[in-house]
Amino acid sequence: MYQTIIDQEIKGFSDIPDETIIRYEENCGAHHYERIPMVVRQADGCWLTDMNGQKYLDCLAAYSAANLGHHHPDVVKALISAFKGCYGSVISNVVYTDSLGLFLERVSKFVPQLGPRFGNNGNKVLPKNGGVESVETAIKAARYYGWKNKGIEDGKQQIIVFKNNFHGRMITVVSFSTKQKYKEGFGPVTPGFTAVPFGDLEAVKKAVTPNTCGILVEPMQGEGGMNVPPPGFLKGLRQIADQNDLMLLFDEIQVGLGRTGKRFCFEHENVVPDGLILGKALSGGLVPLSVFVTNKKIMDMIFKPGSDGSTYGGYPLACVAAIAALDVFEKEKLEERSEKQGNKLLKRLKKLETRSPYVKQVRGRGLFIGIEVKDGNAMQFCRQLLKLGMLANDSHGHTIRISPPLTINDVELDFMCERLEKVLIPGIE
Ligand SMILES: Cc1ncc(COP(=O)(O)O)c(C=O)c1O
Repeated sequence: MYQTIIDQEIKGFSDIPDETIIRYEENCGAHHYERIPMVVRQADGCWLTDMNGQKYLDCLAAYSAANLGHHHPDVVKALISAFKGCYGSVISNVVYTDSLGLFLERVSKFVPQLGPRFGNNGNKVLPKNGGVESVETAIKAARYYGWKNKGIEDGKQQIIVFKNNFHGRMITVVSFSTKQKYKEGFGPVTPGFTAVPFGDLEAVKKAVTPNTCGILVEPMQGEGGMNVPPPGFLKGLRQIADQNDLMLLFDEIQVGLGRTGKRFCFEHENVVPDGLILGKALSGGLVPLSVFVTNKKIMDMIFKPGSDGSTYGGYPLACVAAIAALDVFEKEKLEERSEKQGNKLLKRLKKLETRSPYVKQVRGRGLFIGIEVKDGNAMQFCRQLLKLGMLANDSHGHTIRISPPLTINDVELDFMCERLEKVLIPGIE
């Protein structure tokens, strides 16, 4: 079916030529992304199409935002109904909407009881737009908790984070990035964070002080190089958090919602955090939406009218999309699919470790797999893959990131593996 990758002429939103689009962006847009010169005109399922009708297998899925595949028909249908029925637009936050109520109820139960040490009270959800906003909400929560519950002087709260972390791009979050280029020249940075090596429990223990109020971690690092933590790491963090009365916050914006073969990545170690951050795929890849979820008791202690808010956070269209997306997630058993397809893929790609002279290590969970290359330049292989009809990019410079939509089928997996083998094993045609 996908042998011939040029099959029809596609226009998409406009018929303006690619060169003009690229020129418009160069002349009128901030140059904050290094783009590959490819202009996507349509996206459907696991495939992206350019103006000439050339198809590319999307092995990036917008960094997990397109877990359901592009334009999943159920989510599209829900959105069209919202427009037709006039219940999609943003509504002043002084009144209620049924879509938000239904969404909050759904998400609070979709997540296991968080912070069980605070009681089996159920969860509460605070909605925002982009993921970084919910990371900041989580940071606010941990700081407030430290002040109110632990008696830390306000302004002295400390949160432990990890080297090579990625939690977004706003000032507070880049303040504790360990990548200099994310923050250089953007000071003054926000204080209150201590970064220790990912996976190093001894370093975490040493970093705890009387002012520590929380630990913020990605249960598997995505941008940091597709890093699976050593076994027992999350459990160890849970123990340290319990012993020192810290809020344990998991950022599952990229690795949650089935990406690693479980509904949530923390299930690999059977631990639950006190606070959970979700985004990206939550609204089916069609509108932005993110959430911070925590134990009802904690949410009620921290957030009161005036202490947080967002005009579009939890607006009807996003909630309608998210309810439809969660329905798809459950109906199509995407976490099981991710585990099954991911296991097949990992088994096949692992062979590259011995067969390819370029590959240092293949690692991953579910459909979140990294191929680390020996010379540290993963992007050169990604450019070759693009020419063969497959979109992937690098993670941390040295690793090819493979994270296709969770709906990927066997034919598409074969398509992907054939191209990776062509590029990574010399002599394969
Ligand atoms: C783990 C993690 N946290 C936070 C973010 C930021 O999300 P957003 O770009 O939606 O603000 C990302 C984005 O890639 C992410 O991977």
